[in-house]
Amino acid sequence: MAEKKAVKITETVLRDAHQSLIATRMTTEQILGAVEKLDGVGYQSLEAWGGATFDACLRFLNEDPWERLRKIKDKAKNTPLQMLFRGQNILGYRHYADDVVEYFVQKSIANGIDIIRIFDALNDVRNLKTAISATIKEKGHVQAAISYTISPVHTNESFIKLAKQLEEMGASSICIKDMAGLLTPYVAYELVSGMKSAIKIPIQLHTHYTSGEASMTYLKAIEAGVDVVDCAISPMALGTSQPPTESIVAAFKGTPYDTGYDLNLLTEIADYFRPLREKYLADGLMNTKALSVDVNTLKYQVPGGMLSNLISQLKEQGKEDKFQDVLKEVPRVREDAGYPPLVTPTSQIVGTQAVLNVVTGERYKMVTKEFRGLVKGEYGKTPVEISDEFRKKIIGNEKPITKRPADDIPNELDKFKGEIREYAEQDEDALSYALFGPVAIKYFKYRQGQKYKIDPDMVNAEEKTHPI
Ligand code: CO
Repeated sequence: MAEKKAVKITETVLRDAHQSLIATRMTTEQILGAVEKLDGVGYQSLEAWGGATFDACLRFLNEDPWERLRKIKDKAKNTPLQMLFRGQNILGYRHYADDVVEYFVQKSIANGIDIIRIFDALNDVRNLKTAISATIKEKGHVQAAISYTISPVHTNESFIKLAKQLEEMGASSICIKDMAGLLTPYVAYELVSGMKSAIKIPIQLHTHYTSGEASMTYLKAIEAGVDVVDCAISPMALGTSQPPTESIVAAFKGTPYDTGYDLNLLTEIADYFRPLREKYLADGLMNTKALSVDVNTLKYQVPGGMLSNLISQLKEQGKEDKFQDVLKEVPRVREDAGYPPLVTPTSQIVGTQAVLNVVTGERYKMVTKEFRGLVKGEYGKTPVEISDEFRKKIIGNEKPITKRPADDIPNELDKFKGEIREYAEQDEDALSYALFGPVAIKYFKYRQGQKYKIDPDMVNAEEKTHPI
């Protein structure tokens, strides 16, 4: 057995766990009831912001995401707060100009974020550069993430090489981000061992329970020397979420990896979330389909959040019976598109296209704007080059983009600031508007006390294709 080295845990209940299980609908009030207890555990960090939480606050909960962050920070006096950041996409679904990315990082840290986990859906490091530099400038902890996936070109060697590159770019730690639960225990052992000998900075592992592998994968990764793992308190764990915190803590008690966390305190936290879980189940927010082991994820490489999106897209069209067909179509679309890892936004882009291919009865009869963009290079370089024949079929004679997509985007922060002057109550509002346009305006109007009901026509077509 290795030398004594306590493993650390990042608690995801305030971000990924509810994003994965209940479409990110946990309210700030529900969150705040647990923060002081969570703060007492001694976690490595609380993942509490970013990802889809920002969008869900504005769109569904009529809450200010910045206010949520400040309130959590007020109660989490000891534990670093962590957010998930989609590189040049920030928390939105397109590439933003560098000045918006820089300002978002600055404001995130100013409002309470300590650790920013930065990833790019295509692992195109050019898309991480601005966010990494901005985080370093604001004295935040850069956790550069590798979007883990399986394909003919995604080998352990390729991920280790990428980790080295990210370390050289100034990352303070590396996250292996296995958003689909594809990482199996023995592969994880090899990957973490290899990465450990190649880089000096700490390695954190993030996975989902979708395929039923997650706890075993953590066990082997921890034996291989991984420094931190992501877990969710048990009532919000398993299924498409993370392994249960208490189980991982108990598994390593009395071993060289002992976390030292108090199981009694964790039980109290679980007691807080259990009635909420019952409520989410009763009102249908928590779908039992997302709670069971789905080996299809290993076969079709579909991340947890994406499974529930596919189900709801098909439900909307009364085509739930096509679920298996869509699951089979996803890897085919992915191959056509150069094997992108499936994570926001590529998971939505590939998923929606797969749904269209099945529902219309003819592949690529209808193509979304975003899928065209992916094929054109608007999101960056795909892991495998897309064939000329397929590209032509999708974008015709349009010229593909080969440089960093944001190089073509002029600074746009001042424009956003100008456009919302009449609603702005804080500097951060310009960023909410930059990312979510009409959804942010809807919220600003609500805030002004107009009790504005969301009008579906105000949500533009682009956003409609991106359910959370
Ligand atoms: Co995740």
